Amino acid sequence: MYALKSKPHSSYAKKAAFCASALLALVPAIAQAEPTVEVLHYWTSGGEAKAAVALKKDFEAHGGKWIDSPVAGGGGSAAMTVLRSRVLAGDAPTAVQLKSPAIMEWAEQGALANLDDVAKKEKWDEILPKRLSTLMKYDGHYVAVPVNIHRTDMIWANPEVLAKVGASKVPSNWDDFNKLAEKLKAQGIVPLALGGQPWQETILFENVVLGIGGTEFYQKALIDLDEDALKSDTMKKVFDEMRILRVFVDEDFAGRDWNLATAMVMNGKAAMQVMGDWAKGEFLAAGKVPGKDFLCQATPSNHGYLFNTDSFAMFSVEGADKIEGQNLLASLILGQKFQETFNLLKGSIPARLGVPMDKFDMCALQSEKDMQASQASDGFLPSVGVNMALPGNLTGAIIDTVTSHFNSEMSSQEAVDKLVQAVNLAKE
Ligand code: BGC
Repeated sequence: MYALKSKPHSSYAKKAAFCASALLALVPAIAQAEPTVEVLHYWTSGGEAKAAVALKKDFEAHGGKWIDSPVAGGGGSAAMTVLRSRVLAGDAPTAVQLKSPAIMEWAEQGALANLDDVAKKEKWDEILPKRLSTLMKYDGHYVAVPVNIHRTDMIWANPEVLAKVGASKVPSNWDDFNKLAEKLKAQGIVPLALGGQPWQETILFENVVLGIGGTEFYQKALIDLDEDALKSDTMKKVFDEMRILRVFVDEDFAGRDWNLATAMVMNGKAAMQVMGDWAKGEFLAAGKVPGKDFLCQATPSNHGYLFNTDSFAMFSVEGADKIEGQNLLASLILGQKFQETFNLLKGSIPARLGVPMDKFDMCALQSEKDMQASQASDGFLPSVGVNMALPGNLTGAIIDTVTSHFNSEMSSQEAVDKLVQAVNLAKE
């Protein structure tokens, strides 16, 4: 393993790894370095923590020492702040839960280790779908390993609550959603459970973009950042719908964590939540059964699928124990059995190809099916809200606009003007 772009350090790390393995091969009697990782992650809710523990246990069962560094805060912005200060202080954690655009930014700075050796040994090019392996490579070299495939275009609903207004299904377009929400509100039920944090509001927004604009519009507006799409009438309609949805959220939503919003649906305090399928991890951790205690349905779209892949990037560190730890962790993450165990708990589907799906529930099977359909029609698109789509400053420009609009009286025209301005500023 060696750091990309940081030559002096890279050769040191390479030598250290080489010396360590040469020594171990020649003198088996010498105690091996204990593979050690310090893992910085933000999996702290009920379902997330269970999944993180599965990874820790697998690592420990393979002789590794795991130092846990969780940073609470859904969406990970608190974790990213901690990461930046740790790296600045010259004390990078060995493994960090990151998204692809951030992985590329850190690789660009020469902060990441090269995982090509493990990747070659474990045939990552063969066991990973190309769409994912590309996201894990910087300059043709593996610098991260994917754990899962989540999606953010999901509605989670409480069927008992829906039944109170005679509904048996989750609406399949935003107009019907509005009508159902009106009925629920009239009965004193909170139609939409939302945590008022900018990234959660942006998940709602990206779903409305997908539903009202369709996959092509999503690509143009939120990925290509095409100015005409950003200021189009379609985008104004998206903000109109966001204004309508604001009314369906309860008064106490500001700052609420996503899992507390999920709990509102679980406990019958609210009818629906638009959230990534880590929400399913919460339902399952609470012993709830899909199809019975809760419903899962994709938000309206023309075969879109808003994906989000959690990955671990290995930071360039010194010491044979840490380098062995990084190699061990990277190799375990893509193990077939581990992919099954972890994703069953996390609510996601496996990143690795060929993992048996027989233990997965209806929501996961639907996710797998929708993913295939989306890939056949260019609808497999990265989520903006959870930092999968764009470099940090551009994601920030969109998130800031969405949250300013949602939490004020701003008109849709003002919102599109602000969006164009913020994106242009961030592009400079
Ligand atoms: C991560 C998920 C996590 C969610 C809420 C997302 O950014 O990709 O793994 O469960 O945030 O914390």
